[in-house]
Amino acid sequence: MKISVDLKENSYDILIEDGILNRVGEYIDLNRKVMIITDSGVPKEYGDILLSQCPMGEIIVVEQGEQSKSFSTYERICRKLLESNFHRKDLIVALGGGVIGDLAGFCASTYMRGIDFINIPTTTLSQIDSSIGGKTAINLGDTKNIIGAFYQPKKVFIDFKTLETLSERDYNNGMVEALKAGLIYDREIFELFEIGDIKERYRDIIIKSILVKKDVVEKDVREQSLRKILNFGHTIGHGIEGYFNFNELLHGEAVALGMLPMIEDNNLRERTKKIIEKLNIRTDINYDREKVFKLMVKDKKADSSKITLVKVKELGSAYLSDETFEQCRKYLD
Ligand SMILES: NC(=O)c1ccc[n+]([C@@H]2O[C@H](COP(=O)([O-])OP(=O)(O)OC[C@H]3O[C@@H](n4cnc5c(N)ncnc54)[C@H](O)[C@@H]3O)[C@@H](O)[C@H]2O)c1
Ligand SMILES: [Zn+2]
Repeated sequence: MKISVDLKENSYDILIEDGILNRVGEYIDLNRKVMIITDSGVPKEYGDILLSQCPMGEIIVVEQGEQSKSFSTYERICRKLLESNFHRKDLIVALGGGVIGDLAGFCASTYMRGIDFINIPTTTLSQIDSSIGGKTAINLGDTKNIIGAFYQPKKVFIDFKTLETLSERDYNNGMVEALKAGLIYDREIFELFEIGDIKERYRDIIIKSILVKKDVVEKDVREQSLRKILNFGHTIGHGIEGYFNFNELLHGEAVALGMLPMIEDNNLRERTKKIIEKLNIRTDINYDREKVFKLMVKDKKADSSKITLVKVKELGSAYLSDETFEQCRKYLD
């Protein structure tokens, strides 16, 4: 299956097929210098499969986890590219989750002012969300994604078979972004979560979520207006993530908690809560509301006095609402 993302001169295709990892070379020229960037949590086998298709391939394995989205890892990768004489027409491949996609994409966007880049996302989160839309970034100390660039890949390859090795927790974590897509844009996704076993419908859920992200990004790639709705649940979510030092709770788990107060219909909120629990995510986590509030207003989406919140009044559509800090505080109760 092919989904084309239409961004004028930066357009590209997302290719979705079981086992496509074995056939990447059929769709993109691997007969040049290729640097595969992956992490220590991604099964080594995937890197080997890819490397076997690249006559001039090299691989960098960074430590798994958010701490690799750092200046030091960025520098290490750029030095390696330079040592190996990489040029603009050579290729960087991200093979892994959102951490690898963001890091490798940022390297690609800046090395020689931009070198060819493809993304092979291997987590639910990265397949549903982070591999689409061209946001790349690293962190600066505790501040997430503050150094980055918009940089589109030449292609995205999605191989559902790679999800078979993903931990249950990471799997469910990424599914929260699909639930978000359902709430803000496509009620059918939400309804797929409600019927029976989520794992039986994951393909439909992921594909429909990709279509939501594609649609939103095509209309507003630089997040001037519409794309902001993708931040649904993220304002409080980021506050909660920060409160737990970005380690106790995963991103999707925090966003799940952040979405609930932004749903204005009681019945829909209860339905959403049931789905979150079905994803084995606890909705009764305790945190210090005042501290989360302070982190929330520090969030980068906040300007001097107001925060743009994303709210859902009815299933499948969202709206933006500028609210004062004091108005925002009440959502934490
Ligand atoms: N650019 C964007 O638009 C965007 C959007 C959302 C999130 N993000 C970023 O994405 C990151 C989170 O992404 P994530 O949830 O994918 O986390 P991740 O990249 O850390 O992956 C989670 C874990 O799964 C492991 N893993 C990856 N693929 C695997 C596989 N197939 N089998 C077994 N293990 C595997 C990784 O080694 C890692 O330990 C954050 O840094 C976040 O800021 C970016
Ligand atoms: Zn998110």
